[in-house]
Amino acid sequence: MSRAFSLFRTTDPVPEEERRTILAAPGFGKFFTDHMASATWTPAEGWHDRKVSALVPYSLHPSAAVLHYAQEIFEGLKAYRHADGSVWLFRPEFNARRFTRSAERLALPVLPEEDFLTSVEELVRADEAWVPGSADEKSLYLRPFMFASEAFLGVRPAERIAYSVIASPAGPYFAGGVTGITLWVSSNYTRAGRGGTGAAKCGGNYASSLAAQIESRKNGCDQVLFLDDTGGEGDLEESGTMNLCLVTSAGELVTPALGNILDGVTRDSILALAGEFGLTPVQRSITLSELRTGAADGTITEVFAAGTAAVITPIVGFKGEGYEFTIGNGAPGKQTLAIREHMLDIQYGRAEDVHGWMRRVL
Ligand code: COI
Repeated sequence: MSRAFSLFRTTDPVPEEERRTILAAPGFGKFFTDHMASATWTPAEGWHDRKVSALVPYSLHPSAAVLHYAQEIFEGLKAYRHADGSVWLFRPEFNARRFTRSAERLALPVLPEEDFLTSVEELVRADEAWVPGSADEKSLYLRPFMFASEAFLGVRPAERIAYSVIASPAGPYFAGGVTGITLWVSSNYTRAGRGGTGAAKCGGNYASSLAAQIESRKNGCDQVLFLDDTGGEGDLEESGTMNLCLVTSAGELVTPALGNILDGVTRDSILALAGEFGLTPVQRSITLSELRTGAADGTITEVFAAGTAAVITPIVGFKGEGYEFTIGNGAPGKQTLAIREHMLDIQYGRAEDVHGWMRRVL
């Protein structure tokens, strides 16, 4: 059986002029390219029917398991165009490995990492014209995902699974961008409990974050910060779509330890880069009181959030029930901006890729 994702080119691509208009101001997640990659899994055939073909809507039976029990996982990564026109992915192997771990947690079949990488690369090749230039931090956001498509109402791992990759030209995730955002510390909602799906990248984690996100907006904040399930003064976990990092006056870059949070690609890369900025990387638990005290006495000098979509976003303040505080003078931190710039320089090929993170596609 062929492992290739063969290309069946669409006969109805988006007209060139329309594509150019979209690429000039793509926003985030609003427009999609001409093609999608896909494959299907059944117990009898394993992974089969690998292809890249026209992006079309799915036809799903109303009883499809994903619609009822949310047996679903996804990934997010970007393709970057360098100044010489070449196109590169940033650490796609990391996403492939995490996709495997998420699949295991959600009782989904594991997609071989080679298939993950090939599907993503072949889609980028098919839709090369959709990879924007690097101006305004634009990129082609790639969204691999897998879901239970079997028509069946019993609660058990589904026996028909759909895998796809779609692509969307993207600008910055937060319109406020590098001016910094404020987080709402939720005391009503948690993201994950011990033994739950907190470390998996599954839709359910994001669905359950939405009520907290509404609460954060009502309180004038941009995003929510979740604490662990021990209650109001628990450990910091992550924001709705990003990992959290703190810079201390002792020269540490501190981020919550893995366990119930997402093992973020950007988070992991920042830990590896910390030394270049004179910071010692530390992964440990951080309580809300430590954050509040540290912000007040100046031992926590900067806070930022990290994620593929959001890149590195300065956090300039926090609010919770009955309190609010700023970090430093309420402006994005110097180290935050320097790390952000360096990360983008590596991704767009303006800085040497000493870690071997970039993978050329075109
Ligand atoms: C990402 O950063 O790639 C994410 O998946 C976060 C979000 C857009 C859901």
